[in-house]
Amino acid sequence: MDLNLTGRHALVCGASEGIGRAAAHELALLGASVTLLARRADVLAEVMAALPRTPGEQHHDGIAVDVADAAPLQAKVSALAAARPIHILVNNTGGPPGGRAIDAAADDYLAAFHRHLLANQLLAQLTVPGMRAAGWGRIINVVSTSVKEPIANLGVSNTIRGAVASWAKTLSKELGAYGITVNNVLPGYTRTGRLDQILRDRVQATGKDEAAVSAAMLATVPAGRFAEAHEVAAAIAFLATPAAGYVNGVSLAVDGGRMQSI
Ligand SMILES: NC(=O)c1ccc[n+]([C@@H]2O[C@H](COP(=O)([O-])OP(=O)(O)OC[C@H]3O[C@@H](n4cnc5c(N)ncnc54)[C@H](OP(=O)(O)O)[C@@H]3O)[C@@H](O)[C@H]2O)c1
Repeated sequence: MDLNLTGRHALVCGASEGIGRAAAHELALLGASVTLLARRADVLAEVMAALPRTPGEQHHDGIAVDVADAAPLQAKVSALAAARPIHILVNNTGGPPGGRAIDAAADDYLAAFHRHLLANQLLAQLTVPGMRAAGWGRIINVVSTSVKEPIANLGVSNTIRGAVASWAKTLSKELGAYGITVNNVLPGYTRTGRLDQILRDRVQATGKDEAAVSAAMLATVPAGRFAEAHEVAAAIAFLATPAAGYVNGVSLAVDGGRMQSI
C-alpha cells in the first residue's frame, strides 16, 4: 500500500492543537512538507519545531491568520501557493459555540458560515490550481458526525456542517477528473479543547456534573471511550495518501461506532 507523501506539500488548518495538530504530525510522518495554519503564531512555532522531518526533503512552515478574515487569508495563502504549490488541503477550524438552533441569532449563523464554508471555499480556490497543475490533489474537511445525525444543543454547528458536507460532495464531482479527491472526516467524541467545551456546555444545559455528562456520552459509544486526536488524524492522513486515490466524495466517521446510521 502506497502511503508515501514525500514531495507533497500539505496545508493543515486549525493546526495549533487538537485534531489539526495531530493531522499535521501524521502527514509529516508520511513524508509531506507541512504548512500549519491557525491564529496563535507562538503556538504554531512550537508545533512546527516538533514536527517529524527528513532534512533536505521536508520543509515545514506556519501561517498565523484567522480563517474568517478573508483578505489576510487570501494574501498569505496565495503567496504560499505561488512559492510552493499545495497538494493537500486540510480544512479545519474551531467548532461553533453550543446552543439550540432556535435560539441562535442570524450573526451566529453568519459567523459560522464565514469561518467554515467560506474559508474552505477560498482555500480551495487558492490551492486547486496547483493541484490541477500537478494532476494530483487532496481536499480533506474535518466536519462532524452531525452531518449524518444532528447532535442536540449544537444547532449552529449541525447546520453549517451540513452545508460543508454538501459543498464537499459537489466539489468531489467537479474535481475528480483532475486527480483531486474531496472527502470529509467526521470525528466522534475526541479528547481535545473542543470536547472540553462541549462537556462544559452540556453541564450548563443539563445541570448535571461533568462525570455524569461524560458517562452519558460514553454510554452511546460502543468503543466505551473517547477518541484520541491521533486516531482521527490517522484517517485524515490515509485519505491524503496515494493509496486512497479512488476514495472520493465520502464522509468517513471516526466515532468508535457511535452513529446509528449505516
Ligand atoms: N473534538 C471533538 O470531539 C469533535 C467532535 C466532532 C467534531 N469536531 C470538530 O472538529 C474540528 C477540530 O476539532 P478539535 O477538537 O481539534 O478542535 P480544537 O481542539 O478546539 O482546535 C481547533 C483548532 O482550530 C484553530 N482555530 C480556531 N478558530 C480559528 C480561526 N478562526 N482561524 C484559524 N484557526 C482557528 C485553533 O487554533 P488557534 O486558537 O491558534 O487559532 C485550533 O488549532 C472542529 O471543527 C470541531 O468542532 C470535534
